[in-house]
Amino acid sequence: MDDTITIQRHIAKIQEHHPEASGELSGLLNAIAFAGKLIQREVRKAGLVDILGLTGRINVQGEEVQKLDMYAHHILVRTIGQSGYICVMASEEEQDVIHLPEGEKIGHYAIAFDPLDGSSNIDANVSIGSVFSIFRRRTPFGPGSVDDLLRPGREQVAAGYILYGSSTMMVFSSGDGVHGFTYDPSAGEFLLSHPYIKIPPRGNYYSVNEGNHATWPEGSKRFVDYLKESDGPEKKPYSLRYIGSLVADFHRTLVYGGVFLYPPDEARPEGKLRLVYEAAPLAYLVEQAGGAASNGCGPIRHIVPSSLHARTPLYIGSPHEVKLLESYVAKYEGARAT
Ligand code: AHG
Ligand code: MN
Ligand code: MN
Repeated sequence: MDDTITIQRHIAKIQEHHPEASGELSGLLNAIAFAGKLIQREVRKAGLVDILGLTGRINVQGEEVQKLDMYAHHILVRTIGQSGYICVMASEEEQDVIHLPEGEKIGHYAIAFDPLDGSSNIDANVSIGSVFSIFRRRTPFGPGSVDDLLRPGREQVAAGYILYGSSTMMVFSSGDGVHGFTYDPSAGEFLLSHPYIKIPPRGNYYSVNEGNHATWPEGSKRFVDYLKESDGPEKKPYSLRYIGSLVADFHRTLVYGGVFLYPPDEARPEGKLRLVYEAAPLAYLVEQAGGAASNGCGPIRHIVPSSLHARTPLYIGSPHEVKLLESYVAKYEGARAT
């Protein structure tokens, strides 16, 4: 690991490969890294200060909002909103798009984010994260709109996450591979620690909430049952790893290989995870790393969101396992509409 390359330096080097670039995307990625430093500072002292627990609010998802959810939301809205690089934002914590304050400089990018993913784990000191998805604006000028964000994931120009785990990492791609940066608090910098992350073509882990098994569709049920079978020396059972924070479960899948899945079930026929600020950005990353992401019938990157908070089934990870899952869905469920 070359621990002298900061994320700022790495972003500048990427920009050098794109002489046509205005520098706005670089500035936006640096603004996100700065927000990550502020959020990790609160996450690291949660438990010592009054930032744990619930706000008493219910968000647009009908879920209880944690104080740290709102803290992360406000930090991202403020640091990105005043960066001068965006025309519109969307957050898991707001029903509608967020416009810039009057007089704020309007830029050429649109961004959606899950300010804090894995909220149910906050009070248990389990890894949590922030996820972001970036598009070049589609509306011609002036304040952006929801049209800048209700787009298929293949139109993203960058995506990434910040993982508040045993260390704080920022992992992102802007189309030139996936790179991981580990935060060094003594330097106050994210340092390049995982250049060009590639997901193994197949793995030995699967990651799913087995508690929902009873009401999964048949294809997902039989796929997971197959992963658990031992079939001679060439097919040992996969190991189950499930943290319940998507960012942490995804990061382990990216590094070790295998598959993460959140199938639809009776309670959530569309799936639980959100397309715009969870599935699509992680799908962009995993494909940049040589992996695959599907809703069971086809690539996540092709799905056009019906609304900002639209949900989707998600099967993501090594190409071998995702392709195998799709074959089970085709065989036992027929081609569900993608
Ligand atoms: P969020 O905290 O942003 O609402 O996301 C929670 C998600 C995701 O992090 C995780 O994969 C999933 O919820 C866990 O759901 P279950 O508790 O139903 O397994
Ligand atoms: Mn989330
Ligand atoms: Mn969240």
